Amino acid sequence: MPPPFELFAACSPGLEPLLAAELQALGTTPRPLRGGVAFAGDVDTAMRACLWLGTASHVLLRLAEFPCRALGELQRKASLLPWRDWLRAKVPVDVHATSRGSRVYHTGAIAERIGNALTAVFGRAPAAASAGAPAARVHVRFAGDVCTISLDATSEPLHRRGYRLDGAKAPLREDLAHALVLAGGMPADTAVLDPFCGAGTIAIEAAARALGLAPGRLRAPALEHLALFDDATWQRVRSAAGPAPTPAAAPPIAAADRDAGAITAARQNAERAGVAAAIAFSVGAFTAHPWLQPGGAPAAGLLATNPPFGRRVADGKQLVPLYQSLGHRTAALGAGWRLALLAHDVRLARRTALPLRAAWTTRHGGLSVTALTAPLGAVSTS
Ligand SMILES: C[S@@+](CC[C@H](N)C(=O)[O-])C[C@H]1O[C@@H](n2cnc3c(N)ncnc32)[C@H](O)[C@@H]1O
Repeated sequence: MPPPFELFAACSPGLEPLLAAELQALGTTPRPLRGGVAFAGDVDTAMRACLWLGTASHVLLRLAEFPCRALGELQRKASLLPWRDWLRAKVPVDVHATSRGSRVYHTGAIAERIGNALTAVFGRAPAAASAGAPAARVHVRFAGDVCTISLDATSEPLHRRGYRLDGAKAPLREDLAHALVLAGGMPADTAVLDPFCGAGTIAIEAAARALGLAPGRLRAPALEHLALFDDATWQRVRSAAGPAPTPAAAPPIAAADRDAGAITAARQNAERAGVAAAIAFSVGAFTAHPWLQPGGAPAAGLLATNPPFGRRVADGKQLVPLYQSLGHRTAALGAGWRLALLAHDVRLARRTALPLRAAWTTRHGGLSVTALTAPLGAVSTS
């Protein structure tokens, strides 16, 4: 087993506190930074992070850090690194370079020099990465005169859970859906309702959490494409229980949308995710959902949702009645309920007249989006 690594879990900027809490639950000592959280651990820790983190997009293993002022120096120093301990000779390599405030600034040339170093070590040029095929992603970062080389623990981002093949309109990325559920601040065994569920992402993430299922359960084994992979460790990591206790029985989880096609896609996604039996899907306007009628909902729960939001001001104006109505309908939920609402236009979301507080803000599909939370039940919706 190699010595402990410096590890870095990357996330959408804004999600760092949630990611740090997830890493703490995994037994690590997290250090939040911008765009992610640093922690230390071995291959076992990296595998557990890839399997269990719901809000991370990548897990990086820091391999080397050295002073470097020129491309020739980079190639020479990189050729001395123990690449055979890290990379499999036949797996394609994708080098991603960044540079800030450094004399070595040409990112294309940096990638080329790393390629030359790998050719020297393996006796042939690394195969180029192609779409859809697993590749080892080497990250080379220059900051001033310091070069840091890291390796991605997975060959594709962690938010690609593998269950969402059927698109609906504007599907929410899985890590953001997970972060929205966590921002709700309710225990895993709480009832959840998403009355604007689209492809079902929020309900699927909530159901998996309630059932104690790892977010990365459908993905290829972490580190499988690297020489660092060790099947015995992976089997042990796979069979160990997760960081949260699994509730005895799944709580009620409901997902609805007025678009029948979206519900068909959401059901198929939930089946692939292995959580379809835990979610009650229905087609209909949110105003007709049984839980949003007086006395119709469980005593406590989380309304986690991503209602339609307008990209243009005119769209937003048309949506005012929907948000006002959502605010009124949520008054039908008991005081044991909370709201977690993902909004692009916070002023539009405030038309719910609920006491919303921002939990996090990040970017999604080129837009700024904010997770807003509020207690429900005995609140004024005047
Ligand atoms: C932004 S999308 C939700 C995306 C979803 N979070 C996902 O991951 O795919 C909003 C959804 O609200 C639905 N919708 C719009 N107006 C509705 C209404 N009055 N009642 C119920 N659903 C509605 C749309 O059909 C759309 O699927």
